[in-house]
Amino acid sequence: MPLTINRRATTEDDITAEVLRRFESTPDPRLREIMSALVRHVHGFVKEVNLTEREWFDAIQFLSETGRLCDDKRQEFILLSDTLGVSMVVDLINHRKPEGATESTVFGPFHREGAPTMSEGGNIAPRDAGGTPMVITGLVLDLQRRPVAGARLDVWQADSSGLYDSQYPDGDALHMRGLFHTDAAGRFAIRTVRPVHYSIPSDGPVGRMLRATNRHSWRPAHVHFVVSADGFEPVTTHIFDDADPYLESDTVFAVKESLICHFVRHDERDDASDRFAIEPPFYSVEFDFVLKSRAG
Ligand SMILES: [Fe+2]
Repeated sequence: MPLTINRRATTEDDITAEVLRRFESTPDPRLREIMSALVRHVHGFVKEVNLTEREWFDAIQFLSETGRLCDDKRQEFILLSDTLGVSMVVDLINHRKPEGATESTVFGPFHREGAPTMSEGGNIAPRDAGGTPMVITGLVLDLQRRPVAGARLDVWQADSSGLYDSQYPDGDALHMRGLFHTDAAGRFAIRTVRPVHYSIPSDGPVGRMLRATNRHSWRPAHVHFVVSADGFEPVTTHIFDDADPYLESDTVFAVKESLICHFVRHDERDDASDRFAIEPPFYSVEFDFVLKSRAG
């Protein structure tokens, strides 16, 4: 009797079905859900665009280069996630805030550990001689708008040249970063310089992707915060300058209306200049952070 070989008709959909079948016995149900959705979407994507082998290999090269550029000072994968809007979708799904609580936005690739602890009015920009001084004041409150004493504010921003400390050749030195705490009345005060809009790093694969798709690489001026306190859910957020031309087209999609602030210019000596010992001109901005209790 001749040997019969069961030649299975193999189509793209057969492969997708077989890959999904292999993941069916994943013990962790959440991992099973994620892997099967990943396979369905990636296979669906490849089929939808009829991906060529050349394009597939280019994509592998692109992701490899993205990985190679990542180290403790540069995070090209976060940049990729941010510029594809994935970071903001993850943020929105995970941080649905009750009415009144400060909204979150992207963490971004530039946070660093080890920022110095500063007292009220401490200056995070001591080496930024070209910047226009700015003070940020406000309160940390609970949802009932009661002050939260001892709340921690981890603050970071780009300098007046639009660069973070880690982007300089001697990038080990920390600058434009500080940890602040609210006083017994929930108040905080931070001295810095007015933030400027800046281009995200565009000399890598993410920059190439933006140029190839006719997108700009600018982010509107902002200051980053992680605000936390015992018993409360921390919030990772920014405050934005309402005069910035890139508010409508932030390359990482991170602007939320409630985070846009008015930066007030002071051209004469006044109470604020006396309190913070700043010579005009300078800017001030007030923003209250409202935290949600972990208890609900
Ligand atoms: Fe930033």
